[in-house]
Amino acid sequence: MPERPSPQSTGANAAGNLFALITGASSGIGACFARALAGRGQNIVLVARSRNRLEAIRSEIAAKNQVSIEIVEMDLSIPEAAARLAGLLKERGINVSLLVNNAGFGEHGEFAELPLARQSEMLRLNIVALTELTRLLLPDMISRRGGGIINVSSTASFQPIPYTSVYAATKAYVTSFSMGLAEEVARHGVKVLALCPGGTATNFFDAGHFQKLNFPGGLQSPEEVVERGLRALQRGKSLAVTRSINRLLVFVQRLAPRRLVARQAGEMFRPRAK
Ligand SMILES: NC(=O)c1ccc[n+]([C@@H]2O[C@H](COP(=O)([O-])OP(=O)(O)OC[C@H]3O[C@@H](n4cnc5c(N)ncnc54)[C@H](OP(=O)(O)O)[C@@H]3O)[C@@H](O)[C@H]2O)c1
Repeated sequence: MPERPSPQSTGANAAGNLFALITGASSGIGACFARALAGRGQNIVLVARSRNRLEAIRSEIAAKNQVSIEIVEMDLSIPEAAARLAGLLKERGINVSLLVNNAGFGEHGEFAELPLARQSEMLRLNIVALTELTRLLLPDMISRRGGGIINVSSTASFQPIPYTSVYAATKAYVTSFSMGLAEEVARHGVKVLALCPGGTATNFFDAGHFQKLNFPGGLQSPEEVVERGLRALQRGKSLAVTRSINRLLVFVQRLAPRRLVARQAGEMFRPRAK
């Protein structure tokens, strides 16, 4: 079965059967979360579709850290994927104390021309899998009276963005859902964070066929995003926008008419003739 965790875990530590689960851990921000959390002594479960890349990351991390590392090869955009993943964790006796819902992608182009199947896949991955995994893993955190959830959203969540309209709308959902949930579960000792990076140097733009974009201040490193996210979670924040230039832009956008904000985003994202 492709989605079974690899039988060999590496190492063991005092964290026992408590794990941080990171979706989309085979590259970019997710891989950096894996390295950073293992470096803090956390056992980790890495989930993505590319087994080879997951295995390479596991070997790299295992060479430097005494933690347990499980990998799960799984396409989270498939219906019922979250339930299957939760079932696998149960079978293996893995308890998740930190969930990092990071897997996601965007797609650049005119909505009327982009393939419908790809847009539906985006909705299922960016929204449905994230929501279902949260719903499935949260009750155990509540009964343990502790745990954390980091939902990787985006600065795209604060404004409509023409030519990647569905992606921006999925991230608007993620930020709204996460901040609402954070208020609900704080009394149970569970922290929820909407982590909103701006443009970050990962495979994201190639995977989504984006043309070259110029971000104010340039691209961030995924390491910077992860450090900021972990610090914000520890401090009990429910929203973290990485980088001060992005926080300023988000603030200014709140003051401007929404239609103007959308129009300006359209100027930046309009596909150029090739
Ligand atoms: N890079 C940016 O500028 C930026 C800015 C704001 C927010 N974000 C968000 O950051 C998150 C991580 O993206 P990234 O920038 O690190 O891009 P990335 O390098 O392309 O990483 C995306 C990760 O998601 C996994 N993934 C994609 N489809 C999947 C599926 N169907 N099932 C399971 N895993 C899947 C990929 O692994 P496999 O291909 O192996 O499945 C990969 O590990 C995303 O939610 C993205 O929206 C990125």
